[in-house]
Amino acid sequence: MTSTIQAVRGMNDIMPPAISHWHFVEERIRALVSGYGYQECRSPLLENTHLFKRSIGAVTDIVEKEMYTFTDLNGDSLSLRPEGTAGCVRAGIENGLLYNQIQRLWYMGPMYRHERPQKGRYRQFNQFGVEAFGMSTPEIDAEVILLSSRLWRQLGLAETLTLEINSLGTVASRKAHKQALVDYFTQLESRLDEDSKRRLTTNPLRILDSKNPDLATIISQAPSILDFLLPEEAAHFARVQALLTQASIPYKINPYLVRGLDYYTHTVFEWTTTHLGAQTTVCAGGRYDGLVEQLGGKPTPGVGFALGLERLLLLLETLNKIELPITKAVYVMGLTEQGIEQAMRLAEALRAELTITVILDCVGGALKKQIKRADKSVAQIGIIIGEDELKHNTVIIKYLREERGQASIDREGLTTHLKRYFSID
Ligand code: HAM
Repeated sequence: MTSTIQAVRGMNDIMPPAISHWHFVEERIRALVSGYGYQECRSPLLENTHLFKRSIGAVTDIVEKEMYTFTDLNGDSLSLRPEGTAGCVRAGIENGLLYNQIQRLWYMGPMYRHERPQKGRYRQFNQFGVEAFGMSTPEIDAEVILLSSRLWRQLGLAETLTLEINSLGTVASRKAHKQALVDYFTQLESRLDEDSKRRLTTNPLRILDSKNPDLATIISQAPSILDFLLPEEAAHFARVQALLTQASIPYKINPYLVRGLDYYTHTVFEWTTTHLGAQTTVCAGGRYDGLVEQLGGKPTPGVGFALGLERLLLLLETLNKIELPITKAVYVMGLTEQGIEQAMRLAEALRAELTITVILDCVGGALKKQIKRADKSVAQIGIIIGEDELKHNTVIIKYLREERGQASIDREGLTTHLKRYFSID
């Protein structure tokens, strides 16, 4: 017997009926971003590997351990995108959208990281992200946080998610902080794991986002970046906080929030929950003022975030917050060959006349069997065309979910009848 082929580990199919949950969230996201004037950006899933090395950073977990990288037939090193910011910036530069302009962009789609799969952590996962370019003010930092916060409110999650914020300053303040980290961790070197020992010389800030629980105490006492911020950086951060307070968005300052990607400057933030087990972060982002230049563009400030759609859906499902719209649908059946032909014509006509789902019974056969299939479908009404109906240009309407039974009506009156039944203007 031939063995069945299974999906790649950590990569999920999204099939009916679960897909309706995705549509529920995606529709809300589209309405949300349109409300803030963000425009969609679609870039390839594959990029040159050095795009990610140069942006996310060569010494990060993502680039060192998690990328799906291969050499293509031309000998070029390509990687499946592990996140959306790098590709969005590359595409923005390449298409001339960033220089001396203000852009508010958003994207939604699959990302790839070779992590150990568990609940809320997958190897193919989907992100919705926003990126705002050309504005260095704290106001736009606050706007992207407000945008995410509005989504939680609209989805009934405002009480479930906690906002943590921090500032990572700029190159100047980071230099002094980096030295303080090196001094601190060098004293404790014997207690560090291999990764952190290596990072002590390559990228000390990354020690702070180590996932090793044995290091949690040492990390919690490490020098805080907030003590190294220059006055203008501290003022930027204070203004972000004031704007969040004005918008009634509660937040916690976490001085050890450094994020797993190297491109951040100034404000960084994460929305976390206690409902998803080990995977606590649903949405995360921050400012990245050096990134556009680092990728070959003209100096352009940027700020954004990405949220993990699988995590958001898990949360909504756990808390029973998904409200699916009822599909308005009819099921059309023909009883003879001619009846089926007429049913097909009728179905097409109804689709043109009404914004409802029209399912045609394409199998035919005995009425009883067709009704059974109609009952199994999502339709509320069955429409039957038999010999009598063909002769008199009528149809039989059968209410599938009610005690009302059935009635014969003129074909001419059918559209009006269905409009009234489904409350369509
Ligand atoms: P990130 O923190 O690496 O940031 O990912 C953002 C979100 O993607 C996470 O909070 C999580 O919800 C989701 N996520 C990440 N990895 C996985 C996974 N293996 N399985 C399921 N969900 C996952 C970024 O990617 C930045 N590009 C965010 C950003 C945009 N910063 C500025 N602009």
